[in-house]
Amino acid sequence: MATAVAARRRRADSFRIHEDVAAMDDAEMHGEALKEEENGTYRDDEEENGTYRDDEEEVEPADDQESNYSESSEDEPVIDVNIQHDMEKLQSSFSGLRHRYRLIKRIGEGTFSTVYKAEDLQYDHFDNSWDIEKENEKWTPPPLKSFTSQSTTTLGLAAEDPSQHLQRRRKPKYVAIKKIYVTSSPTRILNELELLHDLRGCSSVCPLITSFRQTDQVVAILPYFRHADFREYFRKMTVRDTSIYLRSLFSALASVHSRNILHRDIKPTNFLYDPLTQRGVLVDFGLAEREGLDCKPCLCHEDALMRKTRLRNAVMGSTAPAGGYPKQDTRPSRRANRAGTRGFRAPEVLFKCTEQTTKLDIWSAGVILLTILSRRFPFFNSADDVEAMIEIATIFGQKRMKAAGQLHGCSFETTIPTIGTFGFSFERIVLWSTCRSDTGETLSKDEKLAIDFLNKCMELDPSRRISAQEALSHDFLRMGLEDEVSPEEEEMDIMMA
Ligand SMILES: Nc1ncnc2c1ncn2[C@@H]1O[C@H](COP(=O)(O)OP(=O)(O)O)[C@@H](O)[C@H]1O
Ligand SMILES: [Mg+2]
Ligand SMILES: [Zn+2]
Repeated sequence: MATAVAARRRRADSFRIHEDVAAMDDAEMHGEALKEEENGTYRDDEEENGTYRDDEEEVEPADDQESNYSESSEDEPVIDVNIQHDMEKLQSSFSGLRHRYRLIKRIGEGTFSTVYKAEDLQYDHFDNSWDIEKENEKWTPPPLKSFTSQSTTTLGLAAEDPSQHLQRRRKPKYVAIKKIYVTSSPTRILNELELLHDLRGCSSVCPLITSFRQTDQVVAILPYFRHADFREYFRKMTVRDTSIYLRSLFSALASVHSRNILHRDIKPTNFLYDPLTQRGVLVDFGLAEREGLDCKPCLCHEDALMRKTRLRNAVMGSTAPAGGYPKQDTRPSRRANRAGTRGFRAPEVLFKCTEQTTKLDIWSAGVILLTILSRRFPFFNSADDVEAMIEIATIFGQKRMKAAGQLHGCSFETTIPTIGTFGFSFERIVLWSTCRSDTGETLSKDEKLAIDFLNKCMELDPSRRISAQEALSHDFLRMGLEDEVSPEEEEMDIMMA
């Protein structure tokens, strides 16, 4: 990386940039942000959205994802004139970008960014330690015709300049250029880049190659990761495929969580997965945060006895009429980080827990598993947090919801008749949603294992919910590993051949 930064710096005279996150000058960025804020150029997202980002576009198919899965036609895509115009604008407003990257097409558009696929024109000039494909490609055997009449293969290759040979044969290298909207707060942008920088080297996390800034416009450069649209493959996934998908997601979560970082926005569009290679990478750290930062003590971190006493005192001190709301509610309103996407928010986020942990990502990953097993996307489809609470309560029932609320000092009351006392098991829900309940069919052994894992991920109490590290040892996530050949076995196979 150091080489890349140094090399890029030499050529960057015409740029007003901070190229490597580590080299970013915080003071300058913050300083400018303040100036801009005074002019009203920056919208404070946090204020405007009440500290959450309700990514409607992303939950619904409206997220403009790449659906073209074949690489062959990608260089000649038919591009909408408006997108073409936006690409031109980005290239001309960002001096120097054109010489480094050839924009190909738009691959994603969310609430806070537009992502383009581009060819990395100066790939060979930089340190590419981020490139996991590099090693395999570099050593692919040369085409047979190079070996023709020469007496040895080495002679054949020596006839041409080796670097030219490599250059000619190398496939174009692609990157994803994430253009972060200028309306995002500078703190948020810096936070995303800083966390990505901290996460470099983490398995299954898409690394940050570099980033550029031109006045208020920041672009992040990431390796392009080929992936398919979740909606195109999730219905066809077998339980084993599901196990492999989730193993990849949970290994990303395990590395992110081991650095005490919460992603906060785990959902299919932020986990890019290639069903062909069965590999995935986690992207979009736009809402991520460090655990423990910006926290106030919550009852869920007290022991059960203390929680009970505090709750009893709170009920006794309350002036509210039983079973209703006081006309003048004098209770202070509760503020908590609610960042995330509807349908994927953990119950503690809905209950406005003030001491949220990495476990909230595990819940969201559980929602992805429930989506795959039930063949329904989106599984939860609420308009707001109250509806989201009703959806969860319908599954878990009043009794467990009340207990879940009390963990964070909240009471849960409802008169909605569809919310029963005990709710339903995930086993029943999966049978219903896959139309098997009438036929008397039961779940397969593998599906039951998946349900056992699901129960551990979608546990209402975050302290009892499985951690990403523990999840990797669960039999469900180990299912796909059975097929893997150990290095010893591989060696044996070679010797036997
Ligand atoms: N490295 C990448 N390779 C390929 N596609 C990507 C990459 N990063 C992002 N995308 C595409 O762009 C979309 C939006 O990117 P994301 O980082 O999630 O931005 P946003 O904050 O706008 O949601 C993703 O859902 C994905 O389809
Ligand atoms: Mg996203
Ligand atoms: Zn709490």
